[in-house]
Amino acid sequence: MKKKYTIGWLPGDGVGVEVLEAAKIVLDRLDFNAEYVHGDIGWEFWCKEGDALPQRTMDLLNRVDAAMFGAITSKPAKLAEKELDPSLQGKGMTYRSPIVRMRQSFDLYICLRPTKSYPGNPLNFKENIDLVVFRENTEDLYAGVEFSPVPDELKETLLKLAKPFKAFDGLANNDYAVSCKVNTRKGSERIVRAAFDYARKHGRKKVTVVHKANVVRATDGLFLDCAREVAKDFPEITFDEANVDAIMMWLLKNPFNYDVLVAPNLYGDIVSDLCAQLVGGLGFGCSGNIGLKLGVFEPTHGSAPKYAGQYKVNPIATILSAKQMLEWLGEIDLAKQVEDAVAEVIKEGKVRTYDMGGSNTTLEMGQAIADKLPALATA
Ligand code: IPM
Ligand code: MG
Repeated sequence: MKKKYTIGWLPGDGVGVEVLEAAKIVLDRLDFNAEYVHGDIGWEFWCKEGDALPQRTMDLLNRVDAAMFGAITSKPAKLAEKELDPSLQGKGMTYRSPIVRMRQSFDLYICLRPTKSYPGNPLNFKENIDLVVFRENTEDLYAGVEFSPVPDELKETLLKLAKPFKAFDGLANNDYAVSCKVNTRKGSERIVRAAFDYARKHGRKKVTVVHKANVVRATDGLFLDCAREVAKDFPEITFDEANVDAIMMWLLKNPFNYDVLVAPNLYGDIVSDLCAQLVGGLGFGCSGNIGLKLGVFEPTHGSAPKYAGQYKVNPIATILSAKQMLEWLGEIDLAKQVEDAVAEVIKEGKVRTYDMGGSNTTLEMGQAIADKLPALATA
C-alpha cells in the first residue's frame, strides 16, 4: 500500500491562491496519494480576527506531513492596525509576518532555495547556473527582538555598555529604534551542518559561508567560527568564505565560482533573491522551510496585489516548491518527474507566462507541465 500523506494547503491571498491552484493541477496528475487540507491564513484573517495565522491553522500544521503555502499581503504595522475590524482596534494587536511566525513556531530552521537555470528560459542570466542557498530561518535580525520606542531599562543598559557609539548622543530625544541581531551557536551550527550534509549527499564540491564578520564581529563572528568548525567534518568539500556585499558582485561576475551557499537569515534572504534573478526572477524562486518534523514549501515571491485575480503570474516557482516538498517527503521519483516536466515545458518554449515574454495564464502553465508527466498507470 502506498503511504497516504496529509498535506496542509495554505493559499493565502493575492496571487498565492492562483499559483497554488496551478501546482495542484500538477500534483493531481502524479501517483501521489494525498489528502489536501485547507488552512486559513492571510490578510483577511488579520482584518477579521486580528490574526493572519489563526491558531486553528497552527493546529493543522501540527498534524500534517508537509504543507504548501502561497503568499500573503503584509502591510506596515500602523496601516495594518487601521484595517483591523473596529471591535479589535486599540487592543495592542501587532501584525507579524505569518511566514516568519511559522518558521519560528515550528523550528523550520532550514530555508532551502535551489536556483537552477533551466535551458531555454529566456530569462536566464547565464546558462548552467546551479546554486543552492541554505538560509538560516529562525534567528538573526528576524528574531523579533525589536524596540520602538526603546524601553528605559534597555536605554540605560545601552548607555552604560555602548558608550563609544557616537550616535547614542541622540538618545536623550528618544528618537531611535533598536532591532537586535541574535545568532546562537546552535542555530548557526545546525544550518551550516545542513548545508554540508546536503553538499555531501548531492556530490557538491564547495560550500561558501556568507557573512560580514569584519564589521558585525559578535554575531557574524560566531556564525563564521561555527562554519569553520563544522567544515572540519567535511574534508572532501571545499570550504569558502565571502563577505555578503562582495558576494553580490561576485555572483553576478561569475556565478560558476559558487555551488552551495550558507548564510544567516537576513543575508540569506538577500542572497537568495539575487540568485533567483540569475535564473529568471521571481517566477522561478522556489523554497522549502524545513525542520525536523515539518516542511512548508512556498514560492519566494509575495502576493503581488497588483496582479491578483488576473491569473497571469508564473507558477513555476510554486511547482518547483512542490517538487521540493516531494523530495523532502522521500518521493524522489515523483520529484524528478515534476522537475523533468518543468524543464521540458521551458525548453519547448511554447507555453510561457508574461514574465517569459508569453501570454499564457498561470493555469495554462500548470496544465502544460502536468501534460508532460508520465501517464498514470490505471489500476
Ligand atoms: C522571503 C520573504 C519573507 C522574508 C517575507 C515575506 C517576510 O522575503 O521568504 O524571502 O523576509 O523571509
Ligand atoms: Mg525574501
